[in-house]
Amino acid sequence: MQVTVIGAGYVGLTTGVTLAYLGHRVTVLDNNRKLIRSLKSGTSPIYENGLDVVMQQARDNISFTCSFSGVNDSAIVIIAVGTPPKSNGNADLGFLENAVLAVANQLGAEKYPLIVIKSTVPPGTTYGVQVLINKFISGKGLRPGVSVAANPEFLREGNALSDAFYPDRIVLGAGDQSAFSLLKELYAPILEQNFEPPHCLPGPKGYSGPALVETSPVNAELIKYASNAFLAMKISFINEFAVLAELLDADIVEVSRGMGFDHRIGDKFLNAGVGWGGSCFGKDASAIISIARKYGYTLSLVETALEVNRRQRKIVTSKLRSLLEKVPGSTVGIMGLSFKPGTNDIRDTPATDVISELLDLGVFIKVYDPVAMENYRKQYPDLKVEYAASPVELARDCDALVLLTEWDQFKKADWRKIRQLMKGNIFIDGRNLLDPRAMRNWGFVYQGVGRGFKTRELEPAASGVEP
Ligand code: UGA
Repeated sequence: MQVTVIGAGYVGLTTGVTLAYLGHRVTVLDNNRKLIRSLKSGTSPIYENGLDVVMQQARDNISFTCSFSGVNDSAIVIIAVGTPPKSNGNADLGFLENAVLAVANQLGAEKYPLIVIKSTVPPGTTYGVQVLINKFISGKGLRPGVSVAANPEFLREGNALSDAFYPDRIVLGAGDQSAFSLLKELYAPILEQNFEPPHCLPGPKGYSGPALVETSPVNAELIKYASNAFLAMKISFINEFAVLAELLDADIVEVSRGMGFDHRIGDKFLNAGVGWGGSCFGKDASAIISIARKYGYTLSLVETALEVNRRQRKIVTSKLRSLLEKVPGSTVGIMGLSFKPGTNDIRDTPATDVISELLDLGVFIKVYDPVAMENYRKQYPDLKVEYAASPVELARDCDALVLLTEWDQFKKADWRKIRQLMKGNIFIDGRNLLDPRAMRNWGFVYQGVGRGFKTRELEPAASGVEP
């Protein structure tokens, strides 16, 4: 099937590459010329597991362009442009409107493609776009028969391709049967799982295919917001209990493990830490809060999830204040800048809040991240921090280290050397990545999040016995 994907961000590009790999003929369209040039040369500007490899394997089926002139030849046009937040929390639909009108401008009398909105949009938008586009083409003397469907994405950055090939569910929101049929044809290889998995992305054990949800556009749109709001709330919930666990001298890691065995709760997204970040949870939670307000309704749980998350990011500073002898003038090393491992994305990352609070307190900051430092430098060129070349380099002369992203590299770091190079011995594990006992045995004063080892575990072993 001939498909155009508009928007070459991580959602559009992942979708385009996946569909091309599955045998569709895909054109990925973006108005960013530099981005398109780089994609044409075979390099992905996005750090995403497996993307380069699968893009290379699918190269005969995929092309990249800045021009809308070919959209009319497509059976399906997927819109995956950004819907960033405005200052009042509402989603900015400017990119979406531009894309829709540019497509409408190309439509001819023969046959219309199905327009599919993959971007996260306020409930009602898909229907609104259908009205807009048909009005536009009526004005050009064309038959108003364009159908617009909602098909939200649930891709996690860093796992986007795997989520695209092996999703939990595919949600289709449409108003007519022919739209459902066409979308089911598009996703047939995924629904039936009858493709040869890319070598770098084998299917999860026991996976037999996604659930298919055929529903109305407004339901599909709301499913996306409700899913992200729920996940944000689930993390904020465990983070709230993490604070309580510390007060009670309990261990949140054990508590969430014990909770997670209950199938009604599940063990995913129950890891306490310095709070969630990224471009999606905060944006979507704020947008749905603001949409509800327009209807005179308060989404109390979602509002509180945001508040708890803001509060959670402050725990690093308050822990350091209680552990460091003198905060101003001390040196703190930050391990991890991206909002989670597996990506170089630094949007709304907890690291930015922690760094800015510590700088305000007169702390000297060193940072290290395996992939996100270039982005961080570009985004904050005047920030007064020192970039280190490795975890070991980072540790040199630090009074304290703070782990904010649970990169695998940190798990395997040379902790003995790190401890030796440090001036102090404080370690704040903002993601509960490391074993508190092992860290204590390396000689660290270790504090995780919600791990109340006040009396038993906090002090380093006198002998400095190795684990
Ligand atoms: C999220 C959703 O998980 C995707 O399903 C959705 O498609 C995407 O937003 C989107 O709307 O586009 P993403 O933002 O890539 O995906 O990241 P997540 O893996 O969901 O993690 C978000 C944040 O939560 C990260 O900062 C992570 O460190 C944090 N987190 C996650 C925790 O603090 N604890 C956990 O147990 C899990």
